[in-house]
Amino acid sequence: MDVKMIKKDFPVLNDNSLVYLDTAASSLKPIQVANKVNEYYLESGVNVHRGVYNLSYKTTELYENSRQIIADFIGAKFEEVIFTRGASASLNLVASSYGMDNIVEGDEIIVSELEHHSSVLPWMNVAKKKKAKLVYVPLTSEGRITVENFKKVITKKTKVVALNYVSNVMGYIAPVKEIIKIAHDFGAVVSVDAAQAVPHKAVDVKELDCDFLSFSAHKMCGPSGIGILYGKLDLLNNMEPIEFGGDMNDNVDLFEVSYKDSPYRFETGTPPIAQVIGFGEAVKYLENIGLDNILEHEFMLKEYVVNKMKQIKGITIYNESSDTGIIAFNIDGVHPHDAVTYFDGDNISMRAGHHCAQLIIKWLKVPATLRASFYLYNTIEDCDKFIESVKKARDFFTEVGF
Ligand code: ALA
Repeated sequence: MDVKMIKKDFPVLNDNSLVYLDTAASSLKPIQVANKVNEYYLESGVNVHRGVYNLSYKTTELYENSRQIIADFIGAKFEEVIFTRGASASLNLVASSYGMDNIVEGDEIIVSELEHHSSVLPWMNVAKKKKAKLVYVPLTSEGRITVENFKKVITKKTKVVALNYVSNVMGYIAPVKEIIKIAHDFGAVVSVDAAQAVPHKAVDVKELDCDFLSFSAHKMCGPSGIGILYGKLDLLNNMEPIEFGGDMNDNVDLFEVSYKDSPYRFETGTPPIAQVIGFGEAVKYLENIGLDNILEHEFMLKEYVVNKMKQIKGITIYNESSDTGIIAFNIDGVHPHDAVTYFDGDNISMRAGHHCAQLIIKWLKVPATLRASFYLYNTIEDCDKFIESVKKARDFFTEVGF
C-alpha cells in the first residue's frame, strides 16, 4: 500500500499537520467521493424513481448502480441491500420490524457487553415491550466474545442473536461465522453489527450466512447520513415496513395498501441521493486499495504503537491484542478528556469517553477511555507524533515524568 499516495487523496491531510486517529468515529473522505457527490449536485440535483424525463432516468441509474456496487462488495443480491440513515437506523429497523413481530413473552435475545448502544438498546426495548429476556454472552478476561462462551448461553428459547463483528472500543473481531452456524442450529436469527467491520475487512454475507448485517458509509470513506441494512430476501419480504409514505407501496385504497418487495418497501420519501452515489464511489475506492491490505496496514500501525506504548510508564492499554487498528487506553491518573484536549493541542484528533458503549466501559471498571483508531491514510510518522504527545501529556499531568 502506497500510503503517501493515498494521503494525497484526502485534502484535509494535504498540509501534513493533522494526525487523524478517530476513524472509528468517522473516516476522512477522499477527493474522489467528494467530487462524485458534487457531480450529482452540479450536474443533476433531480429526484430518482419519479421523474419521467431523461435526467431523472440517468440519476436513477447512477443511484441504483451504487446499490449494485455495494451488493457486489458484500456478496449480496441487489434486492437485499436497503439504504438507511446509517448502521444505527439499520439495527433499529431489524429490532422494530422483525423483533416486534417475532419475539414473544419468554423468548431470549442474546447480546453482549461489547455492543455499541445501537446494537443492544433496540433489543432492550423489544425485550421490555415483549417480556422477553436479554441474555449476555460472558466475555473472556480479555473482554472477547468466544464460541465457547456463546455456547453457554444459547438455548432453544433463543430467537435472536445480536452481536458486533468488530468492537468499536476493543477492536476485537468476533467469531461471528461460527456463532451464526450454532445460532441457526437452534433456530435463531442473527443480526450482525458490522459498522466497524465492513470498512476494515472483506465481508461476504453469504459466506457468513448472517440473517441481517448493518453498516454505515461515513466510517468507510463515504458520506454521512447513509448506511446499509443487508437482510436475507425471504426474511425481508416477510417483514413489515416501519416507515410509511411515498415510493414504498404498490396499490393504495381507502383502507388497504400493498407494499413493494424489498428493498423499496423499507425506503420511503426522497432518499439521500447524493450520499448513495457517493457511497458507491467510496466502495470503489476501497476495493481499489484492497480490504486485506487495509486491515494489514492498520494492524501493523496498531502493533507498532502498542509496542512503543508498553515501554512508557504510566499507561494502561485495555486491548493489547486488538485485531484491528483500535487501541483503548488511559494515562494513569489523567482524565481522558484532559488527555484528549492535550493531544488536540498537538493537532492529534481522537476520541475520549464511553464511545457509545457504556457496557464495556463499565466492564473495564473505568469512567472512560482514550481511543486511537488507525486507517489507510495513517503513517508511521503519525504514530511517532502520537507517542511523543502521549509522553508529553503524561509528563504534563502527572509526576511520573519528573
Ligand atoms: N460509533 C462511533 C464510535 O465508535 C461514533 O465512535
